[in-house]
Amino acid sequence: MKEIKAIVYCSNTGFTEAYARMLSEELDLPVFSEKQAHLHLGSGDSVFFLGWVLGSSIKGLEKARKRYDVEGTASVGLVLTDQSVAEIRKRNKIADDAPFFALHGGLAIEKLHGFYKLVFKLGTKALERTSSAPADEKMETYKILTEGASFLDRKNLKPIVSWYSKHFPVKK
Ligand SMILES: Cc1cc2nc3c(=O)[nH]c(=O)nc-3n(C[C@H](O)[C@H](O)[C@H](O)COP(=O)(O)O)c2cc1C
Repeated sequence: MKEIKAIVYCSNTGFTEAYARMLSEELDLPVFSEKQAHLHLGSGDSVFFLGWVLGSSIKGLEKARKRYDVEGTASVGLVLTDQSVAEIRKRNKIADDAPFFALHGGLAIEKLHGFYKLVFKLGTKALERTSSAPADEKMETYKILTEGASFLDRKNLKPIVSWYSKHFPVKK
């Protein structure tokens, strides 16, 4: 494993960016959006990548892999069941033994625009149609989808920080 040069992220409404910035403080590494990264990093540099989840796909990961050596990946999404995390791993072709962390993001409805807003609206409508007698779990999902939510928490980064300090001991 090569020394990680920077943290690179892809964020739509800011949750992934916030996690990336917190992680940069925790690991003492520079942090760049995928756009800025081009100006600061060279092809083949080692990075830790964070991307938001859209239909189980980690946005920006494919592009990042083409340019950088992605040593570790974190997804930032709303659903964190074992099944959905396994699906994210599979969909994004992350090997079983590759470092992968699923972080709980949030939903900022007012920050959604264009295509993503449309997809989100269609998803909420589908849920409404099936929610005539909502189970508790569905009700909770419904509340999040109509009101928004934030699960952003620095503590969620602990597994990444532990992994990093094990593989890349701090130089004194
Ligand atoms: C159109 C759309 C599709 C989404 N699909 C998923 C999904 O499949 N799984 C998931 O866990 N979260 C999903 N989410 C939730 C986002 O991943 C979550 O809001 C994330 O925190 C956004 O991060 P960002 O603020 O960095 O853009 C979706 C959100 C939107 C708007």
